[in-house]
Amino acid sequence: MKRIVYISKLTTPISSDEIESIGTVSSRNNSRIDITGTLIFFDKMFFQIIEGDDEVVDKLYEKIGKDKRHHDVLRLKTEYDIKERLFPQWHMKTINLDNNVDDLLRPIKILLQSVVESHSIVERYTQPTILKILNEGINPLTVKPVPLKRVILFADIISYTAISEKTTLDETLLILNTYFEVCSRIILKNGGEVNKFMGDGLMAYFNEHQADNSIHSCLEILKELKDIRKNADKNSPLKFLNSSFGLARGDVIEGNMGSKYKTDYTIIGDAVNVSSRLEGLAREVKCLLVLSESLQQGTKEPWIFRSLGEYSLKGKQGLSEVFSIDHELVNGHKGDIFDNQS
Ligand SMILES: Cc1cc2nc3c(=O)[nH]c(=O)nc-3n(C[C@H](O)[C@H](O)[C@H](O)COP(=O)(O)O)c2cc1C
Repeated sequence: MKRIVYISKLTTPISSDEIESIGTVSSRNNSRIDITGTLIFFDKMFFQIIEGDDEVVDKLYEKIGKDKRHHDVLRLKTEYDIKERLFPQWHMKTINLDNNVDDLLRPIKILLQSVVESHSIVERYTQPTILKILNEGINPLTVKPVPLKRVILFADIISYTAISEKTTLDETLLILNTYFEVCSRIILKNGGEVNKFMGDGLMAYFNEHQADNSIHSCLEILKELKDIRKNADKNSPLKFLNSSFGLARGDVIEGNMGSKYKTDYTIIGDAVNVSSRLEGLAREVKCLLVLSESLQQGTKEPWIFRSLGEYSLKGKQGLSEVFSIDHELVNGHKGDIFDNQS
């Protein structure tokens, strides 16, 4: 048997009767399939524990997850091979704490509130991959690093040092937050994931078949930054917000790295080094998007590639040819935008 514990948020206000009706339907259904547990409702949140045979629990959890009355379903814990139920007598004991003014329950309410608050904070700081692993009922700390092929994207604000020397703290935050918001949103939309922010830059990755998506991401970010520059007030530091990109495709190792003091779920490997180096080359070759041969080979769309010459890349023997694409957003900039680059 297994046991799942999750929390979720109520979608739209709901009456006490409706909470009770969820409990009644649940008890009726669960007694037929021998599921036991408890459902607690409190302050627009649900907490539920469901226990029973493995497949039955998984199927029910999937069904509950699709219920439109709640969202942001976050699995807190999965226990496997449980021998005993915690709630053998409850097919779904439903408790609406909002209806309960018992003083003795106050500490429990505060405890639940703290769990929810800390989880919503942790969620913001946690990569989607980790949340996905958690939602699959796996403890991310037990996941072993695996060799994979990935598309790696490095991005960096052009001339950040020069811009930030002339800006106030609020303006610096405006630049960074605007940049990271645009990049994260567009990368996520194109199927990638931002792995980390590093100073005024970031590293993201896509799966090995998403070379085209990675190029689209760069172009969409460049287009949005262009619009931001165009619409910014003439004294706004956003007038100068622009980005360079490096894209590479190849072998990496993905997984937990670090020690018991600090663990990072990240990727390392040649493709990471190459992508970082290519982004660094942008200034030298005066081009906003620099990509590797293996990235080019992974594309399916009819991009017009342009060779930028041969360069020595860390992790690669000899010289490697590097490329860009023929696109006005990549080439159509004034040559001097790199002059102050950090
Ligand atoms: C927070 C929450 C918890 C639920 N828990 C259960 C449950 O334990 N068992 C169950 O059968 N349905 C549960 N439901 C309801 C299901 O999503 C679904 O509406 C219901 O099972 C449909 O029942 P029916 O097939 O008898 O119409 C829950 C819904 C919500 C919003």
